[in-house]
Amino acid sequence: MRIVSALAVALLGMSVVGAVTSYGIDTPPPYGGTTAAVVDDTGNLRVPADYRTAYQLLGSWVVAADDGPGSRELHVVYASPGTIAAYRKDGHFPDGAVLVKEVFDTRTEDMTTGTVSSAGALAGWFVMVKDDVGRFSGNKLWGDGWGWSWFDATDPQKTTSTDYTTDCRSCHEPARQSDWIYTHGYPALTR
Ligand code: HEC
Repeated sequence: MRIVSALAVALLGMSVVGAVTSYGIDTPPPYGGTTAAVVDDTGNLRVPADYRTAYQLLGSWVVAADDGPGSRELHVVYASPGTIAAYRKDGHFPDGAVLVKEVFDTRTEDMTTGTVSSAGALAGWFVMVKDDVGRFSGNKLWGDGWGWSWFDATDPQKTTSTDYTTDCRSCHEPARQSDWIYTHGYPALTR
């Protein structure tokens, strides 16, 4: 037993030394896997091409129409694989977690269930990427533990956002205590 755990400690020590020497103390490790497909080397985000099949559904929101029945917008939120399981374990979004929010215009019609609004044209996407270590401190689309960007439906590769503090943060202020995410709308995050 002793020898095994001593060996484990030695191996752990070696891998820590390896991580520090390859990236240096000031350079946090780059993202891997699913997240690497969303974030380029300088911290620019893009909408993951496969989120509708590879990601998991977090939940949805409807914004009521200002006049008349029905809703004017439908929002559907997805999380990268593993995010829901990790959140259920410790109540935190893990480093590298990707959230994608689709924004749809709606079509409202009478159906056999009542007056129903459903997804019409896609207006675009909001994307957020969790960052526990401050990878892109010089990039104005990163801060408060996340990367933040909006994409028009016509260009999922290039954001039109320029500064998350003015484009996003004030609107997410009410959710500051839950890591800037409106978690109460997501049944998948609770057991
Ligand atoms: C007008 C206010 C407003 C602005 C501006 C805004 N958000 Fe949000 N965002 C919300 C609200 C409210 C929700 C949850 C309810 C909803 O979708 O209607 C939300 C939800 C989200 C979600 C789903 C996860 C969550 O927090 O529940 C993401 C991802 C997101 N926003 C990203 C962004 C990013 C990135 C920006 C800036 C580019 C941004 N938002 C700007 C108000 C806003």
